[in-house]
Amino acid sequence: MPSQPASTDGNIYWSSRLAFILAATGSAVGLGNIWGFPYKAGENGGGAFVLIYLACVLAIGLPIMMSEILIGRHTRKNPIQAMERMAVQSGHSPRWRWVGLMGVGAGFLILSFYSVIGGWALAYVFRALSGDFAEITPTVANEVFNSLVGDPERSMAWHTLFMVAVVLVVSKGVNSGLERIIKWLMPTLFVILLVLVGIASVMGDYGAAVNYLFNPDFSKLNSEVVVAAMGQAFFSLSLGLGAIMMYGAYLPDHASVAKTSLAIVGADTAVALISGLAIFPLVFAIPEMTTAEGPSLVFKVLPQIFGKIEGGGFVSVMFFLLLVIAAITSAVSLLEPVVSWLVTQKGMARDRASHVAGFAIWFLGLGTVLSFSSWSDERLTIAPRIGDRIFVLVDGKNFFEIVEFLTFSLMLPLGGVMIAYFVGFIASMKATRRQLADSPRAVYSTWLFMVRNVAPILGVIILLNMLGILDSIFLWLGLS
Ligand code: PHE
Repeated sequence: MPSQPASTDGNIYWSSRLAFILAATGSAVGLGNIWGFPYKAGENGGGAFVLIYLACVLAIGLPIMMSEILIGRHTRKNPIQAMERMAVQSGHSPRWRWVGLMGVGAGFLILSFYSVIGGWALAYVFRALSGDFAEITPTVANEVFNSLVGDPERSMAWHTLFMVAVVLVVSKGVNSGLERIIKWLMPTLFVILLVLVGIASVMGDYGAAVNYLFNPDFSKLNSEVVVAAMGQAFFSLSLGLGAIMMYGAYLPDHASVAKTSLAIVGADTAVALISGLAIFPLVFAIPEMTTAEGPSLVFKVLPQIFGKIEGGGFVSVMFFLLLVIAAITSAVSLLEPVVSWLVTQKGMARDRASHVAGFAIWFLGLGTVLSFSSWSDERLTIAPRIGDRIFVLVDGKNFFEIVEFLTFSLMLPLGGVMIAYFVGFIASMKATRRQLADSPRAVYSTWLFMVRNVAPILGVIILLNMLGILDSIFLWLGLS
């Protein structure tokens, strides 16, 4: 097993398909599933969001996951070099490397806020250790959270600690150690989540939660819901920025790209849905809580479950610890493209590259720290008027929301469009077919059909949304 899966000498391989699945699942399963999915579902009206999310995972996520892995494995290079090389090999412009570069930018931006949320999870490990969740009431749960994020110094300190941990892992290249951890981390996290679902179903209103999540109310559908679900699918599966492509560079030749992708997508989706089922029963049972709680949702709800159960102290420490580790294994794959770029294109030593990138990302993260305290009212609106129409591009978003919007709604889907277009129309079919040769022919043709159609459709959706006219179309279709 490589100690540096992201170095690009191309000669090291994951020891097995399982090692790759573990690393890629480690990247995919993280805050996006447990923190992101429930709060996004809650903000976007539940069922309709979940349905579109699942559709995006299957119709867009799975084909793009396969695409990233096959580009990585075909070239055995980092995403920038991989896109460039495969394009040139097929007689096209080396400028395709820009897709890899945009991924570096997206990783940079995402990690800046990811680390802040990871810091909150870290803080909650210590809250849990100090027994603060025993007999916790909704009011106290609110206070615990608000006092943490409302205090920029405290929030910054945890953000710093989280970032230091990620930089240490990446600079020392202990990724293979992480894989060993992931091996027991994922199953344990899974079991704890299932236990939480069990308790939540007794304590809360399970029926209301299931109904909310799985019984779509299409009157809630609008462009925001669609774009949020699509962005969440990319984010949760770690797609669109080359993170999975980078790991794919080390997948052994004999492993099946299709089956491997299916395993990762399945695990990631299961964790997201189970998190939703653990959280919403309580949301409906506690009058003080609303579904549209936003980024604080998980942090306010789960401690209340822990507070009510025998041995809740231990379970809560375990849970937040696992969440932090899951977040670190994801964060590593966000930092890796940035570091790999600095090492291979800018000639920096790995150590130095990790420190420089880590510091810059940490600094940008301060914007997110402040978005939940001093800057929470600093909001930006961009709504140019063209002719007699007003195009609302940004509607009163704070710093964190802008970074989130840029990455979730623009960069990741755009990266996905480019990757899909690339494998569908640019890369030679001989090369793509060879990567999928071990699957039945129907798998290849279905995949090709998907990537060829996903690219233009997704592109159009992003464009329409940017122009602010997606909603008019929904209205016209009678959907909202
Ligand atoms: N998928 C990770 C999560 O759900 C976040 C991530 C996004 C990691 C993009 C790598 C690339 O937490």
